[in-house]
Amino acid sequence: MATTFAEAAQSVEHAARLEHVSKSFAGPGGQQLVLDDISLDVAPGEFVTLLGASGCGKSTLLNLVAGLDRPSAGSITTDGRPALMFQEHALFPWLTAGKNIELALKLRGVPKGERRERAEELLSLVRLGGAYGKRVHELSGGMRQRVAMARALAQESNLLLMDEPFAALDAITRDVLHDELTRIWQETGVSVLFVTHNVREAVRLAQRVVLLSSRPGRVAREWTVDIPQPRRIEDAPVAELSLEITEVLRGEIRRHGRH
Ligand SMILES: Nc1ncnc2c1ncn2[C@@H]1O[C@H](COP(=O)(O)OP(=O)(O)O)[C@@H](O)[C@H]1O
Ligand SMILES: [Mg+2]
Repeated sequence: MATTFAEAAQSVEHAARLEHVSKSFAGPGGQQLVLDDISLDVAPGEFVTLLGASGCGKSTLLNLVAGLDRPSAGSITTDGRPALMFQEHALFPWLTAGKNIELALKLRGVPKGERRERAEELLSLVRLGGAYGKRVHELSGGMRQRVAMARALAQESNLLLMDEPFAALDAITRDVLHDELTRIWQETGVSVLFVTHNVREAVRLAQRVVLLSSRPGRVAREWTVDIPQPRRIEDAPVAELSLEITEVLRGEIRRHGRH
């Protein structure tokens, strides 16, 4: 799988390209502009985090990239159909971990005879070898998110969209999953667009942090993170850059005053 992803990734210029994307919703007081003129590229194999206060339009943006909704203006292109992972695992509770993954494989057209082995491989990739027959309620929150990650990877997309996937987990579990995600990203070469409101998480994971302002959401600033991986959330350079970004984020929030 690693080579498939890497080769596919090298053959195109962008995993995702957003050009002057705006999005409005009809509200009680007329049209509400949520995203305003967002231009953003994700390079093949790149890990980008999209950071912003709650309500600034991160999920709206990710849903547009996923093709679940259309922009009011501007254009979005992606290298194939992206895979999407949410804060809630969205696994089918009546299926085992293995069968949840096999369903994704089935939808992708993987022949029946190959699905079981592939599902086991994906479970090993997220270090859940042995969990094939487990039902969702038997798994911890962290394990569920691992299965959800395996299911997203089963789609073999060039672009993985993650909407605060670890936000509901305790700090220790989240730390472990940061390590796992970094390893999986490095092993597969998949491009990742990861949404979070957590500054340290954004810096811990990304090669590039893009900060969205609120009301409307605009690209306020971006930072290249050249701290070597694997990083720890408590590493001094991670903490330093997080502090700098937090200051800018605070300024953004103060300017909009509604938080
Ligand atoms: N389908 C919708 N209809 C109307 N308003 C929406 C819809 N989806 C999102 N919004 C509004 O867009 C804003 C951004 O929401 P969202 O993208 O969920 O923010 P975030 O993910 O950054 O917390 C919010 O004010 C929300 O109420
Ligand atoms: Mg959201």
